[in-house]
Amino acid sequence: MKGIVLAGGTGSRLAPMTSVVCKQLLPVYDKPMIYYPISVLMQAGITDLLIISTPAALPLICELLGDGSRLGLSVSYAEQEEPRGIADAFLVGEKYLSDSPAALILGDNLFAGDELPALLWGARRTVESGAAGAVLFGREVSDPRRYAVAAFDARGAVTDLVEKPADPPSACAVTGVYFYDADVVEMARRVRPSARGELEITDLNRFYLERGDVRLVGLGEGCVWHDMGTPASLLEAGHLVRAWDERGTRVGCLEEIALRMGFIDADTCAAAGLRMKSSPYGRHLLEFATQWAG
Ligand code: TTP
Repeated sequence: MKGIVLAGGTGSRLAPMTSVVCKQLLPVYDKPMIYYPISVLMQAGITDLLIISTPAALPLICELLGDGSRLGLSVSYAEQEEPRGIADAFLVGEKYLSDSPAALILGDNLFAGDELPALLWGARRTVESGAAGAVLFGREVSDPRRYAVAAFDARGAVTDLVEKPADPPSACAVTGVYFYDADVVEMARRVRPSARGELEITDLNRFYLERGDVRLVGLGEGCVWHDMGTPASLLEAGHLVRAWDERGTRVGCLEEIALRMGFIDADTCAAAGLRMKSSPYGRHLLEFATQWAG
């Protein structure tokens, strides 16, 4: 399975922070925002990644991550010239995907929690085994009008997906990580621009729903989902990451995950730590690599 991080957009809700720096490179406590979505795909065992961003931001993201080899990853890059919508990721990424199943994550979404790796692996297996064409993750929210929302029948099966409903059919929001089978590019080609001129991911998901092929997995109390698209939510995300950090859990620490997943060895992790030894992040890598090797 291949992974896509969609990290373009305008970031207009974060202006002027995003006037010269793209949203996904802004700091969230101790690391750039894009580390968090990348860490999610890595926890699903995905090592082949495509980062999609704007022509202005892509060279900077590329400078940060390179070809991914330091993390045991293979990272490719593609430009999205205009923010044409989230489903456009599959048109931009068509050649890269070349009929592979894919996981897509939004570059400003933070997920964390002990249950997360098992849920991600489960989603991957579901799609790869053909048990469902699309796996989405749902989360109860207090303000469903801001999100894509699922409607359910009496048995709890998903009957509809509605983008930013004025009258929400439930409080279950569809979060920003999605797993699809190899039909996803073909499905994305069928999506037409919405009233706001975007190729909506909800329309793509509805195509899978019409095919009776969507599984919605609920994120329980053990998982955190946080959007980082507004000044307040960006700050809250930083506080959350710091609180975990102080409890001994590093969220979005790519080298640590790469070592745990077997993508790199302890020496490579320690070398990364050494390069950043003046920062708490770097010192953690050094400590973790020593602990792991010992
Ligand atoms: P949004 O938060 O919906 O859009 P935005 O980032 O442009 O922000 P704002 O509304 O403040 O102007 O996007 C969610 C994520 O998807 C974010 O990481 C940007 C990315 N994205 C793209 O890369 N291309 C797109 O065409 C769209 C719509 C979003």
